[in-house]
Amino acid sequence: MNAAGHPDLSESLKIVVGVAGGIAAYKAAHVVRGFKERGHDVRVVPTESALNFVGAATFEALSGHPVSTTVFDAVDEVQHVRIGQEADLIVVVPATADFMARAAQGRGDDLLTATLLVATCPVVLAPAMHTEMWHHPATRDNVATLRRRGTIVLDPAHGRLTGKDTGPGRLPEPEQIVDLALAAAARPSHFRRDLEGTHVLVTAGGTQEAIDPVRFIGNHSSGRQGFALAEMAAQRGAEVTVVAGVTDALPTPLGARVIKVVSARDMASAVEEHSRRADVCIFAAAVADFRPEHTANSKMKKGKADDALRRVNLVENPDILATTVRRRASGELPAEATLVGFAAETGDAENSPLELARQKIARKGCDLLMCNDVSGGRTFGATDNVGWILSADGEETEVPLGSKFTVAGVILDAVVDARA
Ligand SMILES: Cc1cc2nc3c(=O)[nH]c(=O)nc-3n(C[C@H](O)[C@H](O)[C@H](O)COP(=O)(O)O)c2cc1C
Repeated sequence: MNAAGHPDLSESLKIVVGVAGGIAAYKAAHVVRGFKERGHDVRVVPTESALNFVGAATFEALSGHPVSTTVFDAVDEVQHVRIGQEADLIVVVPATADFMARAAQGRGDDLLTATLLVATCPVVLAPAMHTEMWHHPATRDNVATLRRRGTIVLDPAHGRLTGKDTGPGRLPEPEQIVDLALAAAARPSHFRRDLEGTHVLVTAGGTQEAIDPVRFIGNHSSGRQGFALAEMAAQRGAEVTVVAGVTDALPTPLGARVIKVVSARDMASAVEEHSRRADVCIFAAAVADFRPEHTANSKMKKGKADDALRRVNLVENPDILATTVRRRASGELPAEATLVGFAAETGDAENSPLELARQKIARKGCDLLMCNDVSGGRTFGATDNVGWILSADGEETEVPLGSKFTVAGVILDAVVDARA
């Protein structure tokens, strides 16, 4: 356990994966595998309906534990009490409309709902259902009731449903559920709905500056930290727009609208357009400082006499963070908009990464700055992060090593505090 009494990254957790009877029940198998691959002990508790979709044998083989659906199996062990008391985390995937109705009513008519009544650990529900069922007033009320009681109900993804129809109601990707659920186990308070009514703009990923049709200047940014920020802000109730440069093959951040761009100048125009009504702008993208002055229309040849490839002339790209700070000062953005910069620093002969970050926040004029120490290739592409959050009034908070989702939660806590 860490100082706050929550599990550390390295700790093996006892996780209960509840499975309700929806068409997406087969994806629960991938969620079980995801937790197991990260070293956690998983117990699967399906509902009776779930076993119409996936057999108990699959869950028993993947989890290494027996599976039952009723409190009347292994009565000598009083299973619901033992499983509920021992659990560090309960994740229900998929959570059907019917399951959430029963959970909201506090019923205990099968092993899964009875276990929930006993558990005191974080509970994460990943709903999946047709859009009409998700929008139904009864489901809306049940979700609101569960959230009010502290249950973390993820927003479903938007996309293809059982048939040809699309809309909100799709189960998030298994790896998103695993990441968010582990973030909930680490810091359940990061899932408070304290950004409802707030529009958050996040930039993510790296930019590419074309030299010719086949070559570009790029960087190692994976987009993971920006996407984690977008996803965590959406789960806290914000309306989220992501301006995404080049990212690894990551699933679209849950609950966010994504605008894809390639170059720094594309990113600058997308930010200009979408920041006008933003309450919070978080600049997590790794934007190229320079671009080639000219982009050749055809591939530049290596051995040509003038060898232009050797002497690609670079010109400076727009500074998106500094420009946004200026636009806020001139009234183009709400005066109370919170602007958060990122500094990926390696330090140099005279300055530590933290010292360079202090200089950067003073120079840029943003409200908060997340400083990552990226020396030795740390951070880029990794699933965890570490660093400091600096504020314009001189406060410095150490951000301990955590998953990029937990770090996103710490940054969003700082945003909420700054706006209080
Ligand atoms: C083919 C099929 C697919 C279904 N998919 C869903 C679904 O995705 N989400 C949902 O809420 N209900 C879905 N249902 C309805 C549930 O199975 C039904 O409400 C059941 O009572 C749920 O039981 P449980 O919540 O105890 O698991 C589906 C039913 C069928 C027959």
